[in-house]
Amino acid sequence: MEVVAIYGSPRRGGNSEVMMDTFLQEVNPSDRVNRIVASQLHLGFCRGCRSCENTGHCVQKDDMSQVVEFLLLADRVVVSSPVFFYAFPSSLKVLIDRIQVLWSRKYLLKEEMKPKKGFLLAVGATKGKKLFDGIILTTRFFFDGFGCKYSGECVFRGYDKKGEIADCRECREEIRQAACSFLG
Ligand SMILES: Cc1cc2nc3c(=O)[nH]c(=O)nc-3n(C[C@H](O)[C@H](O)[C@H](O)COP(=O)(O)O)c2cc1C
Repeated sequence: MEVVAIYGSPRRGGNSEVMMDTFLQEVNPSDRVNRIVASQLHLGFCRGCRSCENTGHCVQKDDMSQVVEFLLLADRVVVSSPVFFYAFPSSLKVLIDRIQVLWSRKYLLKEEMKPKKGFLLAVGATKGKKLFDGIILTTRFFFDGFGCKYSGECVFRGYDKKGEIADCRECREEIRQAACSFLG
């Protein structure tokens, strides 16, 4: 099985990275994990030029071709991210917008895509009721753009300091259990 892990935070070693690494501990050693750190990619933002609607390819030649290759091969996709202003950090949002190329292939050019499942891990510092509404909705449509079925999320409120979620035993247990059923 091919697993793609998308790290959404520009802060390395932070809470969402701890969450992702906890999740990935449940991956079977015979499976392959392709890791994508959004903030370390060289990606131009989507220009909205609509070229991909006719060609199925982006006019920009950058790290997105590797991302697309990983996602098309994937059986499982996991995104782990903090909430920034009730949305995704901008480096991850750039990647998401560039998925328009796969959306075009799927919906306009009628390309068949390997079925896959996706999962969201998310964390925020505050306790707002709607804290994760925005990124859950964005993730659903991001996943749908490349034939990936949204299969659930683990979200945690009230974590701000770098890596402090590692001290939360219940959080790690919840993530491990979710990973087992998602990857199984
Ligand atoms: C630019 C920025 C915007 C943020 N916006 C929010 C927000 O809207 N709501 C919230 O609860 N936390 C917000 N936070 C806090 C982060 O979500 C929180 O610190 C999280 O644990 C960071 O995860 P990380 O360590 O993986 O980067 C923001 C942090 C930054 C740096």
